[in-house]
Parts: sequence; structure tokens; C-alpha cells
Amino acid sequence: MSTSGTPGARLAIYPGSFDPITNGHVDIIERGLRLFDRVVVAVLRNETKAPLFSAAERVQLIRDVFRDRPGLEVDTFEGLLVDYAASRGAAVIVKGLRSIADYEYESQMALMNRRLRPAIETMFLMPAEPYAYTSSRLIKEVCRLGGDIHGLVPPLVEDRLLRTFAAARDPLS
Ligand code: PNS
Repeated sequence: MSTSGTPGARLAIYPGSFDPITNGHVDIIERGLRLFDRVVVAVLRNETKAPLFSAAERVQLIRDVFRDRPGLEVDTFEGLLVDYAASRGAAVIVKGLRSIADYEYESQMALMNRRLRPAIETMFLMPAEPYAYTSSRLIKEVCRLGGDIHGLVPPLVEDRLLRTFAAARDPLS
């Protein structure tokens, strides 16, 4: 999808690791698409944190979930988030806020980002209640240990996680 939008169109960046995308992320993206003309899902290239999926795989999973959805773009970034947002001409960073536990960390990041680039606002959106306690990290842990993750991630992500952990358990399968 083209990255050059209509001049003046409202653009938001939704950044994260997305390792992998969950239904909580999907919920925030859907809310963002209702508020902005364009939403860029920006996947952090954080290979040093040893993600389960490479940045390219994480991008592909998100693209597969949204299948050329109008107004949505998936990109990667590294370095400072606010520099990436500025390079894309975005004035808004969208973040999901699940709980008071998120608030501590997210407010620190939002205020640091504001200090770095005062023109860029961080906007917090709350996901639907069923996703208030889920995270990529917990979902991976539950799946790795054989627990049920149905309904917490899009079906194609569930399938991918099940195959990934099955292959890790039995590398010859
Ligand atoms: O999904 P995550 O891992 O919670 O996302 C965290 C993310 C990517 C939003 C955050 O780590 C980030 O913004 N990284 C880019 C580096 C940066 O700008 N650091 C300063 C933040 S104040």
C-alpha cells in the first residue's frame, strides 16, 4: 500500500513488537481505523530481544490478518519511535492501554516521547474487556505449555503458533 497519503489526511502510528499480533492488537487497530484516515502498524525490528518470529514474519502475519484493508499499512522501524513517526509525517502515536500496570510504563514512554518531539501526541485506546489481560508474551507461554489460546489470537496466528511450538517439541515432524 502506498505510504504517501492525501495531504492533511489524519495518520496514526501504532507501534509494537507484535510477536505475534493478538486479538487485543486487532481490537486497537480497528479502533484506530475508525478514528484516523490511515493507520501504520509499525513493527519494531528488535532481533536482539530474540523474538519468536522475525520482523518479516511478524509483518506478514499482520498483513495476512488484515488482507489489504483500506487505510492500513504495515511497516517496520528501528531507532527512536518519535523519529520514525516524524519521518512518516504522523502527529499521533496510538498505544493500547489494558490496565493500571500498563499505565506506569506507558506514561513514562509517552512523556519521554513528548520531550523528544513535542509536536507528536500519544493517544491511548482501551481494548475490549476480554483482551484486558492478554499479551503476546502470555499467549506464547500458554501455547508453548499446551494451553488453549483459542479466541485470543486470529485463527491464522493460532495455527502458526501451534505449528511453531509443535515443531520445537518434535523437530523431525
Ligand atoms: O509491543 P511493545 O514491545 O510493548 O512495544 C514497545 C515499543 C516498540 C512501542 C517501544 O519499545 C518503542 O517505542 N521502541 C522504540 C525505541 C524508542 O523510541 N525508545 C524510547 C521510548 S520513550
